[in-house]
Amino acid sequence: MEALERSIQECANIKELEKLRVEVFGKKGYFAAEFAKLKELKGDQRISFAAKVNEDKERFTDLINSKKEFLETKETKEALKKDAVDVTLYTNASNVGALHPVMSTMDRVIEYFASLNFSVEDGPLVEDDFHNFEALNLPKFHPARDMQDTFYFKDGALLRTHTSPVQVRTMLSQKPPIRMICPGSVFRPDLDLTHTPMFHQVEGLVVDKKGAVSFANLKSILEEFLKHMFGDVKVRFRPSFFPFTEPSAEVDISCIFCHGDGCRVCKNTGWLEVLGCGTVDPNVFKAVGYKDVSGYAFGLGIERFTMLLCGVPDLRSLFEGDLRLLEQFR
Ligand code: PHE
Repeated sequence: MEALERSIQECANIKELEKLRVEVFGKKGYFAAEFAKLKELKGDQRISFAAKVNEDKERFTDLINSKKEFLETKETKEALKKDAVDVTLYTNASNVGALHPVMSTMDRVIEYFASLNFSVEDGPLVEDDFHNFEALNLPKFHPARDMQDTFYFKDGALLRTHTSPVQVRTMLSQKPPIRMICPGSVFRPDLDLTHTPMFHQVEGLVVDKKGAVSFANLKSILEEFLKHMFGDVKVRFRPSFFPFTEPSAEVDISCIFCHGDGCRVCKNTGWLEVLGCGTVDPNVFKAVGYKDVSGYAFGLGIERFTMLLCGVPDLRSLFEGDLRLLEQFR
């Protein structure tokens, strides 16, 4: 038995161990020989010898099993070591991906406003009439609803046409003061050179005590923002109309391609329209139950910014997933 124990110790791998097991338990093996000796014994001697051989057999089985377990862990460890991948190894980086240009523009806008302490809010893509229209001073059958063509579901739910419903949701769930942006996708049934049925906006809303927030604040924050995004551009505010802001303005920057001389992109006007804004209409505050507050809001299209910043002439190409286009923005 001692010799057997030693031979277990000497097994270097599972194959050798299995060979030993077969040999020892086989017809010509150690235990067969031991049990054969029983024939020559009688009475108590026979009983005690049989008990000892059985005990040895059990002990041997245990030893072989634990050795097997030991060898198995050792072999897995060695295999893992052998197959290990050195993740620090230098590799040709030509297959590395990149953010989609729309998403990197989005990130730049979010980072800018987050650095000014704006919170980043979120809202559902499937909206109801109240949040997308009514609460934003757009009652049913109001002609201004035609400014935004809408995808409707059968039950009256709709795909949000802008990120402005998140203004409403945020005001309904939080108390003033509010200083938020909402980035996200919006939907309108349009498809041409400068429109896709899904696109992205970033909404901004600031609300504080009455008199604490003015159009002048809105003007200065947007001017700084547009210079941050487009560099040294001129910024102009043009009177406009949105039902949820009063007064409202559309904001133009001097054309970044011709610097105001007039070209195809700015349609020879020297100006590019980049966002809509205004001070919040009192009817919006009424709809959410806010009293004695003032505020301003703005909304911008991320694809519009991306087209200008990256020189993409056809908006649709941003959503075709063509790697030849995307690889240029690595
Ligand atoms: N929601 C408007 C649009 O989609 C943009 C906007 C937002 C205008 C906030 C004014 C204030 O056209």
